[in-house]
Amino acid sequence: MKIIYKKNFEQEPTPLLFPYFEGGKALPEYLQKWYDELIENKIANHKANEHFRYFSFTENTPKETIIWSLGKKTESASAKVRNSLALAIKFIRNHPCPQIALAWSEDFNAYAREIGEALALANYSLEIHKTGEGKKEAEEKIIQKLTIVCAEMDRVAKYDFEEGLKIGLAVNFARHLINGPSNLIHPESFAQHAKDVASENGYKIEVFNTKDLEKMKMGALLGVNKGSQFQAQLVVMQYLPLGKRQDPLILIGKGITFDTGGLNLKPTAGIEDMKKDMSGAAVVLGVFKLLKELDIKQNVIGIMPLTDNAVDAKALKPTDIVTSYSGITIEINNTDAEGRLILADAISYAVKNLHPSSIIDIATLTGACMVALGDIYAGMLGNNDRLKERLKNAGNETDELVWELPIHENHRKAMKGHLTDLINADGSGLAGASTAAAFLEEFVEKNDWVHLDIAGPAIPKKLKDYDFNKSGTGYGVRLLTRFLQNLK
Ligand code: BES
Ligand code: ZN
Ligand code: ZN
Repeated sequence: MKIIYKKNFEQEPTPLLFPYFEGGKALPEYLQKWYDELIENKIANHKANEHFRYFSFTENTPKETIIWSLGKKTESASAKVRNSLALAIKFIRNHPCPQIALAWSEDFNAYAREIGEALALANYSLEIHKTGEGKKEAEEKIIQKLTIVCAEMDRVAKYDFEEGLKIGLAVNFARHLINGPSNLIHPESFAQHAKDVASENGYKIEVFNTKDLEKMKMGALLGVNKGSQFQAQLVVMQYLPLGKRQDPLILIGKGITFDTGGLNLKPTAGIEDMKKDMSGAAVVLGVFKLLKELDIKQNVIGIMPLTDNAVDAKALKPTDIVTSYSGITIEINNTDAEGRLILADAISYAVKNLHPSSIIDIATLTGACMVALGDIYAGMLGNNDRLKERLKNAGNETDELVWELPIHENHRKAMKGHLTDLINADGSGLAGASTAAAFLEEFVEKNDWVHLDIAGPAIPKKLKDYDFNKSGTGYGVRLLTRFLQNLK
């Protein structure tokens, strides 16, 4: 989307979107009279997302204006503004109008980042594989050019607005990977995307393939990969603006490009969502799209363990035993608990080789977490209260919410093996998010660590206004980026 700034909107040839807070800054005269009449006659009220189209035939006004109510301007309206504006953009896209103008009132300066995010997020398109007429139609529904009528936009707001746009586009990049089917976005092609991000930004990157991982004895990741037609990949990407002055923060994302469940095969219903089981890895790569662009002053290393979890004669069988990179032995008593296996080796890689200041992993890890918290909150578990507090604050600021769940001694006990050090799944069906985290904790050793289980918000049942049916959300890019920006 091309953005143009213009001081005033006289003779603006494109439809003008005029978002408006109840009791906020007055509308221009030609609208105010008309709008007041609508309110007076009870045709309109001030409810958020109520909208009215006004067509004018005078020379000095836009031909078409869409007044969009944002509801009341309250202290904590930022999430509401993001949502409401996203709906306005979707409304416009459905008409469709490839070019629009947005009237920026002084009221918006405080929400500039959210508005930028909303514009980018709501302009996302899933329909990239269509051809012919379908392709044309899909492209017409993308807003190509946006004129901001910006007389009342201040300098800080412009900066924040543009930052919001960049963040929104990075989320869309993550969504693109997440929504890619597993025959197109597989471990090897995902790794290529990571290489592209690295070369665009000058990041150091290492990509280990199956052969390398065999030499390294990454038995847990390789175990999951045994049934795959693709090579496993471990991507390690470094952004170290502070050089040796700071130990790196490690971000690890689960990269299962399709989770069939393995021989503990998943049921048919809902299995198509399992192309999104690499949401964690896509989110980490989305964050890396932003680190340099937003000039984040933190050393960050991203680790993305990648494979699919497939069914094959060579695939792991329930009761198989693997030795992880750490040396810890694991009985695979459920091949569908594969995410924790690949994360375990990624965590150990960080612990052994990277001297972390702390570790955050993000993963669509358990259905249990979704059952416990629904799709609004990610589950947050870990061993460091300060880190958790910071993530919680970043979540509240970005409306990518997290809620803490416990790890109890009993959860740890539940993951101990009879034949091996650990089992990968406790069969009780109880506290599944906690036992999964207890398993991961065994690999963390003495490091500060938080685990984010995003099964709910990454693949939600109920969509937020800036999300799309059948699309992964990219939940986590905004949360982790804000978390990093707040670390000073
Ligand atoms: N990828 C799934 C978890 C998941 C389910 C994410 C639904 C998003 C939506 C994960 O690999 C899995 O299958 N977990 C099992 C663990 C169990 C076997 C201990 C689960 O949650 O059932
Ligand atoms: Zn699984
Ligand atoms: Zn999975």
